[in-house]
Amino acid sequence: MKKRVLGFTIILAMLLGSCMSSIEKSYAFNDGPWLIKQDASEKYIISWLTSTARDSTIYWGESPYDLKNKFVSEKARVHRLELSNLAPGKYYYTVVEDLTNFPKGHVFSFNAGYPARTKIAIIGDVQIRTIQTTKMAKIMAESIEREKPDAVIQLGDLVEVPRFNTSWHVSLKPTALYTGERPFYSAAGNHEQINGDAVNYKQLFPHDFASEEATYYSFTIKDAFFIQMDFCDDGYEKVSKKQAEWIEQELIKAKERNMKWVFILFHGNLFDTHPLKRQSDVQKWLVPLADKYEVDGVFTGHSHGYQFWEYAYGHDDLLYNKEDKPTGKKIPYWCTAAGGAALRVNYGLLNFDTNDSIEMFNRKTGEMETIEILQGKWNSKKFIDYRDNKYYGQPFIGAGKHFYHDPSIESYCSDNERLGFVYGEQTSHYMLIELEEGKCHISARYSDGKVLSGPNKDKPQEWTFEK
Ligand SMILES: [Fe+2]
Repeated sequence: MKKRVLGFTIILAMLLGSCMSSIEKSYAFNDGPWLIKQDASEKYIISWLTSTARDSTIYWGESPYDLKNKFVSEKARVHRLELSNLAPGKYYYTVVEDLTNFPKGHVFSFNAGYPARTKIAIIGDVQIRTIQTTKMAKIMAESIEREKPDAVIQLGDLVEVPRFNTSWHVSLKPTALYTGERPFYSAAGNHEQINGDAVNYKQLFPHDFASEEATYYSFTIKDAFFIQMDFCDDGYEKVSKKQAEWIEQELIKAKERNMKWVFILFHGNLFDTHPLKRQSDVQKWLVPLADKYEVDGVFTGHSHGYQFWEYAYGHDDLLYNKEDKPTGKKIPYWCTAAGGAALRVNYGLLNFDTNDSIEMFNRKTGEMETIEILQGKWNSKKFIDYRDNKYYGQPFIGAGKHFYHDPSIESYCSDNERLGFVYGEQTSHYMLIELEEGKCHISARYSDGKVLSGPNKDKPQEWTFEK
């Protein structure tokens, strides 16, 4: 009996060992492709994975009927074709021989530029761990593909366990529906960083990182500038001082370059009305920074659901730092954290409260103040009823019940007014940024492309900004 247990333990250890190391050493699936655009070198990089370390061929060209270029990536699991000097606005076509998620000879195409009206999709946490989340992630991937965006931004926690190669496989399989035909901008969330080194994240996604070691980067899409932060570059759920300083430098550069639109992308839950501990340390410097440089919006993830705030920093005379001089401008903050992952309703949203506090300087009294915060449980009776379609935005508990938080009806969080909380809903969704000559249209969408609009249809989550 002992022998059998020992044998089983050894086999289990071997199995775990084989799937817990770096992707380059032990990946066991054919996945991809995904397209990365590097701004600095203007390179387009097509990546894909093979189940063994082997040669793998990609054909490419300027016509789907004449793929006259051939490239063989040698003896590896992670394969990359780097293309430079592509003509902006021209379409390029590729066929990767080793893919198994697509029919043999499937042709992918991408535009080496952006059209006059550019559509960018944003998708939050995917984190596949069950049959339901697998199904939801597929539905969301199909939704993104249906939009035919010109670029896709993922806000982190694409993967569940980054050292488990099967975990990458289950996430890369559905997302391959849209990652091969437009630039894909992924982020390091806490799940990419679970072991503190993001080794597989860096191996898979050759973004234009701030440095060799960094896991954060910036990128430009037409006249919009994006800063893709790393949630955990200084330990679990900790952002380094170095990254914070780099962000300010990037914001200065964006101003110097006269970028029309500037957005910050941060995986963590900066504000939250869910009962989940917020990233207050980041809030203290990121909110004043976003205000100082008058960014056009901050997109956050991590807290699985949808929430929206319009926060005019300092409107109530409360400052994170005594010396701050707030502009008074309302900055939109979106939490868009449900791209397939199990929603917060599965983590006690309806069952318990969270208490928090933050120290702020009151410029009226000239003294520091402790702001006590109650993030109360949501009312289980307040939901939009989609029970006739359980996969319309909701795997798991409450399937079909889209629990919402409309503070004009009932407020569950004590600092909703201070932070300008507008609306929240427990639903899988994605967001769109559409850029066109002086206009920026932003919206939050259900899987069928409809705009989230609240229980009385009076909270449409879409905005048009003009400059
Ligand atoms: Fe997360």
